Amino acid sequence: LLFSTLLSQAYAASTLDDIVQRGELRIGVDAGYVPFAMQNKNGDIVGFDIDLARTMAKAMGVRLTVVNTAWDGIIPALLTNKIDLIMDGMTITSERNLQVNFTQPYMVIGQSLLLRPDLADKIHSYKDLNDGKYKIATKLGATSEYAAKRYLPNAELRLFDTEAEAVLEVINGNADAFVYDLPYNAIYVQQNKGKLVHLDQPFTYEPLGIALRRGDVDTLNFLDNFLSQIKGDGSFDRLYQKWFES
Ligand code: ARG
Repeated sequence: LLFSTLLSQAYAASTLDDIVQRGELRIGVDAGYVPFAMQNKNGDIVGFDIDLARTMAKAMGVRLTVVNTAWDGIIPALLTNKIDLIMDGMTITSERNLQVNFTQPYMVIGQSLLLRPDLADKIHSYKDLNDGKYKIATKLGATSEYAAKRYLPNAELRLFDTEAEAVLEVINGNADAFVYDLPYNAIYVQQNKGKLVHLDQPFTYEPLGIALRRGDVDTLNFLDNFLSQIKGDGSFDRLYQKWFES
């Protein structure tokens, strides 16, 4: 009996088993990332990834809890077991992949640029911005920060805690361009007509995945199969249309 108790503890519980036993799936997001996870007028967190997580919780037979966390603390929150999964448009990078596992990608995006409108006749590509006289704004710790450092090393980089603060710098004339994930930029220009110009040729390749703790093959297997299923049966497309095409 002792031996089997020890054995069951040693092999304890994948995150998946924990979730089912607890009756609750806890996902970590940094709300503010339109349209993946953002706060609505009532303060509720809504978005594509939230709907995806809700569909997943239903498949697991559990309820969903959304935990709002700063982006640069979201991997630590996963590693210290405060959340079960990170589901908020996280780009799969080798650097992050040394710390966490990722599912198969559920979407591919890239970085694009929002420009001050008066620069539109001078700047036709990210390359034209790689000059010390230009100021670039973006969010701290996002892949946009790494993209700016890599592709615009000569420009002056300004980092902000939220995407909203960073893009406002351009609207207020304190920065020349905002670099960020294309879906965010596409929606932002739509909602702020005439205030910014979108250079919508993505200049990075960024698969997005769900992050989980390493070495948990049961949970990874569940998540990958769940993603294949919703991609094949039309439910993924319905959510995509709801959040990206309306
Ligand atoms: N895809 C980018 C990254 O992985 C940005 C994601 C930002 N997500 C957020 N919840 N604010 O760094």
